[in-house]
Amino acid sequence: MSRKILIAGNWKMNKTATEAVELAKPIIEAIGNQNDIDVLMCPPFTSISAVSELIGNSTVRVGAQNMSDKASGAYTGEISAAMLRDLQVSYVILGHSERRSYYGETDAFINRKVLACLENNLKPVLCVGETLEEREGDKTEAVLEKQIKGAFAGISADDFKKIVIAYEPVWAIGTGRTATPDMAEATHAFIRKVLAGLYGALAEETVIQYGGSMKPENSRELVAQPDIDGGLIGGAALKADSFHDLVKNAIG
Ligand code: PGA
Repeated sequence: MSRKILIAGNWKMNKTATEAVELAKPIIEAIGNQNDIDVLMCPPFTSISAVSELIGNSTVRVGAQNMSDKASGAYTGEISAAMLRDLQVSYVILGHSERRSYYGETDAFINRKVLACLENNLKPVLCVGETLEEREGDKTEAVLEKQIKGAFAGISADDFKKIVIAYEPVWAIGTGRTATPDMAEATHAFIRKVLAGLYGALAEETVIQYGGSMKPENSRELVAQPDIDGGLIGGAALKADSFHDLVKNAIG
């Protein structure tokens, strides 16, 4: 088993291009030379170019927060995989709960985006997670299984190896309420079991990130769990100090 920790900042709809440079610069200076873990920054589309230009030879990677399922054409307002690749993007967050709930993204739609992402040699960061109501109704496992099976329809074993999963309990996102390490670990182990049912031993290689109020104070404890392979960070990724401390603590 050789899973490398991946810590990713999901900046959501924050930071102008100018502000993005101010945030990215100190992060790259502080942790852009280490190779113990993979570090990814996902700015809004409008800042990707500016952040990519700063990366240089550093080990930090740039990702996007979404993309179109279509290759090109008359789709006003959309951004294609090829457009992202041209800006040195290597990962794309897909199926984030905010996209599922505010923009009506379904498992079938997310599946088409995953396929388009892979066709263009981009690595999907597929987000899955249950709402509070679903957890309290004992539906967490059924919800996750449905989201995973839906997103992975038609994905070959070779492509499966390029996919990262982010488990983000919706009730923990932006709420300050983190899943306990034990609770998160149990859910991650379940996700890996579902993946093993689909892809066998390859599931041992899948990076499964935790997301939902991860911060410098809890990153070490979460990442120390056997099935938690990193984090997808919202709020704590918006300040260079907190993101940098979170990464340093996760490395241990
Ligand atoms: P949060 O967001 O760290 O602010 O909870 C995580 C995410 O939505 O990716």
